[in-house]
Order: sequence, then structure tokens, then C-alpha cells
Amino acid sequence: MLLSKSATPELPEDVILSVEDLEVSFAAGTKAQLRAVRGVSFQIARGETVALVGESGSGKSVTAMTIMRLTEYDGASITGGRVLMRLKNGKVADLAKLSDKRIEALRGADISIVFQDPMSSLNPVFTVGDQIAEAVIHHQEKTPEEARQIALNTLKLVRVPDAERRLDQYPHQLSGGMRQRVMIAIALACRPSLMILDEPTTALDVTIQAQILDLVRALQDEIGMSVLFITHDMGVVAEVADRVCVMLKGEIVEEGSVFDIFAKPKHAYTRALISAVPRLGSMADKDAPEKFPLLVFEPERALAEVTE
Ligand SMILES: Nc1ncnc2c1ncn2[C@@H]1O[C@H](COP(=O)(O)OP(=O)(O)O)[C@@H](O)[C@H]1O
Ligand SMILES: [Mg+2]
Repeated sequence: MLLSKSATPELPEDVILSVEDLEVSFAAGTKAQLRAVRGVSFQIARGETVALVGESGSGKSVTAMTIMRLTEYDGASITGGRVLMRLKNGKVADLAKLSDKRIEALRGADISIVFQDPMSSLNPVFTVGDQIAEAVIHHQEKTPEEARQIALNTLKLVRVPDAERRLDQYPHQLSGGMRQRVMIAIALACRPSLMILDEPTTALDVTIQAQILDLVRALQDEIGMSVLFITHDMGVVAEVADRVCVMLKGEIVEEGSVFDIFAKPKHAYTRALISAVPRLGSMADKDAPEKFPLLVFEPERALAEVTE
């Protein structure tokens, strides 16, 4: 039997997301196009955490936002590839080809995203409870009372202390860490099968960052969802990831289990990222704490090193 081109795409049973040869370009003036993502492919299994790591500007956010089909609002277009996702109803869809209406219905429900800066993502004039409830009412037929109950349960799920009282507070009344928990609660409200976290802890101090990473891990055990975790920090990767994709200049240059990436990194760029993480005990012979070494990386030099 001849399959027509519109045949439903297929995915292995345990795969939630399969990004295949994705290419995303921004229209740059009238002449050249900026290819921000070039031939990117990776898969995420059910319950798995994949870290997308790379320095600023390497194309991590564009990849994530394109999966959600949000980059098109910034003038980008998908110039190649597929984004296959197993939806909650069991069907597989190519997100790159869905109509605006269908992708809008999936955002928040099947797949959700948490950004770095919770203050600019939360609406200052609505209470925390209303903002979580809105996500529920938008996607599910719930009464306001039911939605409030779900909001309360979700705030408890993300370990917000005194959740009942927090429901009626406004974002400015919460600390940065609590706001990020609220963002995660909004993202979780409809129990998506995939949550994308784009540098969720970058703006937080280390103690709060560790708490949020703990939370993400615990939630994953409890809910069994898949996570795409974006970061530039290999220390964070070691904390959360099962598998790692290393991005450089719009391409994935190395992929492997978190163990293999740290134990035997192949690409010079991966090694440079790892060496930027201070080792335990490396300050032992120092009199005072030192500044964290900033990653200064010259991709051309490293690429030359690998090909030598
Ligand atoms: N709205 C935009 N318009 C034009 N170019 C963009 C836009 N957003 C991102 N880019 C370009 O895409 C590339 C990747 O950016 P991004 O995915 O944000 O990097 P990061 O890895 O830091 O998340 C960068 O070169 C950036 O300049
Ligand atoms: Mg980014």
C-alpha cells in the first residue's frame, strides 16, 4: 500500500518528542538570512530529562521556542525538518506543520515552558491563584471553584509553603524563588507530558537554585513527565540531566548520557564547558574565595584543535 504524504508520522512508543533536522532562520534585512538553528536532531523519551547546553547565542532558546512554535512571532521561520510529538491523546503530530489554532491548544496542555525571569512572565495585576487557574480554565472545562482547587493543589505540588494564603497574593509579594515555583506551577497546571525549562535558575542565587533543581527532579519522579532543560551551566547539567546535547553556533556538536559527557567528552567545546565548572576542593589552597571564572571560549580555536 502506498502511504500518502499526509500519513500520520510515527514515533517509537517510549519517545515523547523527536526533533529531526530542524532548521530555523530569521529574516535578516533583505539579503542574507540568519540560520539560528541548523540541522538540529534529538529525541526525548518518556520521563527523561535532556539538557540542552551551550554558551549564550548558540541557539538553545530558539530551538525551544520553535518547538512551542513561538519564534514565528519574532520573524523566524522553520526552513527545514520536523518536530514530532506524542500528544496526550496518543496521536503523533508534527508541531512544525500544525495550524495556529491546533498548536495554541497544545501549548500549556501537552507542552509548556518556564522562562528565566519570572517577574516579566507573571502578570503583576493578577493574583497567583488566578494566574494558575487561568491556565486550567483555558484548556479544560472547569468551573472557577474547581480551577482554584487545582491551583491550590499545584502550588502544594511545587512546595510553596502556606499555599492557601499565597493563592491570593500578587507576584511582587513573593521572593524570586517563590515566583519561579509559581511559574513552574502554571506550567504544570494542566499536567503536560513535556516541560521545557529555559535557564530557569540563572537569575536565582545558588541556594534557591539548588532548591529549584531539587524540585524539578522530585516532580519528575512524581509525575513522570519529560523535561527539556536549557542551561549554559554544566554544574546544573550534572544535577538534573539524564542525557545532554551540546549546542554550538546553531548545531548540536555532541550528544551523550550525562555520565559519558562528563567522563569522556569528545568535543573540545564540551571540554571547555566542563572546565568552567569549579571542582570540589579546588579552592582548598586559596586564602579567600575567588571570583567564578567566566567562560571565555573561542569556537574557531576549539574547532581547529579537534580537527588537528
Ligand atoms: N528575535 C530574533 N531576531 C533575530 N535573531 C535572533 C532573534 N532571537 C534570537 N536570534 C539569534 O539566534 C541565535 C540564537 O539565539 P538564542 O537561541 O536566543 O541563543 P541562546 O543559546 O543563548 O538561547 C543568536 O545568534 C541570536 O542573535
Ligand atoms: Mg537563551
